[in-house]
Amino acid sequence: MTNTASQDVKDRDQAIDRVKDWDRRGLPGWAYHDEGFLALEMEQLFKTHWQVIGHVSDVPKPGDFITFDIGPERAMVMRGDDGVCRAFHNLCRHRGSRVVAQQAGHCTNAIVCPFHGWVYNFDGSLRGPARPDSYPGMDKSKFGLAPIELEIWMGFMFVRFAPGPQGSVKEYLQPYEAEFALHQTESLVPTGVPQFSEIDVNWKSVRDVDNEGYHVPIAHPALQDLYGFNYKDYAYGPGLSVAKGVFAPDSGRRWSVKNYTRITEPLAGLPAERHHLWSYFGLFPNNVFFLGPEAAYFYQEFPVGVNRSVVRTSVYRYPTENRRQRLARYLMARIDRVTFEEDRQLSIWSNESMKSSAFEDFHLSDLEMSVRRHHDQMRKVLPVVRLGTPPAASEMAERNAALRQELNADG
Ligand code: FES
Ligand SMILES: [Fe+2]
Repeated sequence: MTNTASQDVKDRDQAIDRVKDWDRRGLPGWAYHDEGFLALEMEQLFKTHWQVIGHVSDVPKPGDFITFDIGPERAMVMRGDDGVCRAFHNLCRHRGSRVVAQQAGHCTNAIVCPFHGWVYNFDGSLRGPARPDSYPGMDKSKFGLAPIELEIWMGFMFVRFAPGPQGSVKEYLQPYEAEFALHQTESLVPTGVPQFSEIDVNWKSVRDVDNEGYHVPIAHPALQDLYGFNYKDYAYGPGLSVAKGVFAPDSGRRWSVKNYTRITEPLAGLPAERHHLWSYFGLFPNNVFFLGPEAAYFYQEFPVGVNRSVVRTSVYRYPTENRRQRLARYLMARIDRVTFEEDRQLSIWSNESMKSSAFEDFHLSDLEMSVRRHHDQMRKVLPVVRLGTPPAASEMAERNAALRQELNADG
């Protein structure tokens, strides 16, 4: 670790916004197992908050697309003949089929629905239905693909299904901008299509485990080898949680860590204090970006059921990547794979405990600041989660709205 890097971490550490009147409790156990609450989360959290869908380099040419499903929604981003990226519901206006089936791909000339063959232009407008003579007098302008809000920030593409409290991505993620610029994220290119892993727990149990480094020394031998105790959480603002690990000077007891730290070679132009740094940038409620010396990735967990989640990950490299950096990226992925499996088990134990008669609550350490901040944000957006017992599913939205009004009235 360089002196500058260690100073950087120290300064940031001192800047941690320690919450006064520290409430060490987490969300109530019921919020991890309640179907009615999951429905509320889907409507008022996942649909109204920005989700990263990919990078502009995932769709470099007109006709290229990438897709993204969450709950009942399915989105796609398509690059048009004019070079502009647009987001649409991946839903045919005839009878609702997906108009593109793969995670990512390319359409030649037009988007042709695989059900009956309606044809759409890359800008989403309907070119024509199949057998147009069977639709006399049809106004084609009324049957384009339904648009979704899309914003591009530092090379990454974000979609939002409904307006929400986060403002624009640029405003919301402004505290991250300088660091993303140092990592030249606009120049990243994909290493493949997004990858998926399933975990049999509520999505918040995945997030709770991922949101703190308190467990690293015990649960992640490889990460502990890499960072030692140089792993810290930082508060950049509501909904923004950051963790940074500076490689320990004596790391390398494990094979993958030893080889990774031996061959790591930073992107040209990256400042020295970031050469031995892995950093993680969270975007509430469920997105995380990783920036390393020679690669970057994002991951996000989604509920597919109250006790089942999918983690979607997409890894990017730099166009200038050389053989050594490629090998470093491989070793980085190897360390991450082991870490992910260790976290999987922890999230299962945490999640199942919430059904036990002995489960009281979390008792969060100062080192679990980001878990606390995530829960604070949940309590703010979905105040019904402050209740000790869950309202009936049929009353969930109404109780939530009433509580939100009360809180707003209290200022
Ligand atoms: S559902 Fe798309 S053409 Fe029929
Ligand atoms: Fe972990």
